[in-house]
Amino acid sequence: MLKKDKVRLVWDSKGSNLSPAAEEITHQTIEFINPCQASNYDSIFDLWIQKPDHARAKDPNGRIFLGNNLLLMEFLINNGCRETLDLIYIDPLYLSSSAYNSTIKIKDTASDTSDSLSRPVFSDNGAEGIDKYLDDIYPRLKMMKELLSEQGSLFVHLDWHISHYVKILLDEIFSPDSLINEIVWCYGGGSGSKRHFHRKHDVILWYARSKEYIFHPQYRPYTAGTLERGLTRVKGDKYHLHQEGALMQDWWMDINKILSPTAGENLKFPTQKPEALIKRIISTASNQGSLVADFYAGSGTLASVSQEMGRRWITCDDSPIAIQTSLERLIKQGRGAFTVEQVGIDLQPSDKRSYLKLKPPSIQLFNESSVLLLLGIEDYIPHEQNLSLLKKTWGIKNLIDFWEVDLNYDGNIFHSHVQVLRDRKLYDDSISLSLKLRVDVRKTYKIAVKVYDIFGVNTLEVQEFNM
Ligand SMILES: C[S@@+](CC[C@H](N)C(=O)[O-])C[C@H]1O[C@@H](n2cnc3c(N)ncnc32)[C@H](O)[C@@H]1O
Repeated sequence: MLKKDKVRLVWDSKGSNLSPAAEEITHQTIEFINPCQASNYDSIFDLWIQKPDHARAKDPNGRIFLGNNLLLMEFLINNGCRETLDLIYIDPLYLSSSAYNSTIKIKDTASDTSDSLSRPVFSDNGAEGIDKYLDDIYPRLKMMKELLSEQGSLFVHLDWHISHYVKILLDEIFSPDSLINEIVWCYGGGSGSKRHFHRKHDVILWYARSKEYIFHPQYRPYTAGTLERGLTRVKGDKYHLHQEGALMQDWWMDINKILSPTAGENLKFPTQKPEALIKRIISTASNQGSLVADFYAGSGTLASVSQEMGRRWITCDDSPIAIQTSLERLIKQGRGAFTVEQVGIDLQPSDKRSYLKLKPPSIQLFNESSVLLLLGIEDYIPHEQNLSLLKKTWGIKNLIDFWEVDLNYDGNIFHSHVQVLRDRKLYDDSISLSLKLRVDVRKTYKIAVKVYDIFGVNTLEVQEFNM
């Protein structure tokens, strides 16, 4: 009999990266966001905050971490999350030797023309070699297994560059019998080569922690031919068509990549995966209320789909642009509160902040119990590290991606009560720099405004305000 589990992948530095972090892992909750996007109303946003601390009252559905996922997983394992995750989906680096940027449109206010800014998000450095790649992924996959619940599954999304190596590692970590499916996701679009067949599929490796893994069968529509003749003619009386459709195979051709620049879900984030694909994986291998995770968040696809599907979630990325794209997506989606946390050492020290000046808030009487408070941003200058990228003619509105307000800032965690977003499709100067809030006249407010700029830097300014 073939002893499959005795086969191992070996390379010189294997295991060198397995020891825990030398220093204690720092962790901080930075923000608590209760999505409440100010809506446009006669060019001024008018919003009635009934309970100034409503953001505190609700349990968060999700946690988004800025930081290195290796540190995060170690932190989670040491802080009560071992064996708690029903599903982990990851879409890590593919060893593609490419650099990925996210480009945004900017309106040059002086000439009234469109400009753009290309922001580096991550680099998938194949030049460093297969051994370096394996050094990175091996300890991470091991930790993922520790985080999985008894009924948990891991889905690893890769392509032809490295999936065959990772499969052997997963066989070692889980056991070859724990491979439930090797899913082939086929898509179209893009250009091809005259030297080989077009490479138009990815591989998703599905491993389960035990035989008790969650599985909800998925269905696809019957083909026109099957519907026309029915199953009985071919297979006999025992077989009937199911109302749900035919059982899904392990090759998926019915979901395409996000190709159109105008597609509703396209966030112009390189490597962004379609929501339909993630929805299928979540529907298959988790339950309502399950805790699910993606340790390579990118644009936040898993978090966003989990919000929609009633799953609790954890996600992480070490790129501020990725985190910012995810935050904006989740705020726009407007479902349920979540936290923004940070792991690792000094990821965004305060000396990286930009210059933000608020207008002195002005008030107008609304009725005997409430007033309208007009908040505004007067000036914003990005941190000097980004000044060289800045064109003088871009204007403040172009530099701000979105901003948020905490009416009762406690000096520690920013509770985001209201958010002002630009129109992502336009990416011009459509964002408002002022906001009208109806607040309780009897209260004292310590207002904090946080600005996220187009370079991925956020800056906070606080104003005490007595009615
Ligand atoms: C292929 S993209 C994920 C795209 C995502 N599935 C989506 O739908 O948008 C991989 C992401 O992993 C992040 N990343 C790479 N190495 C990481 C690490 N060690 N810790 C945290 N994030 C990492 C990158 O910044 C990048 O945003």
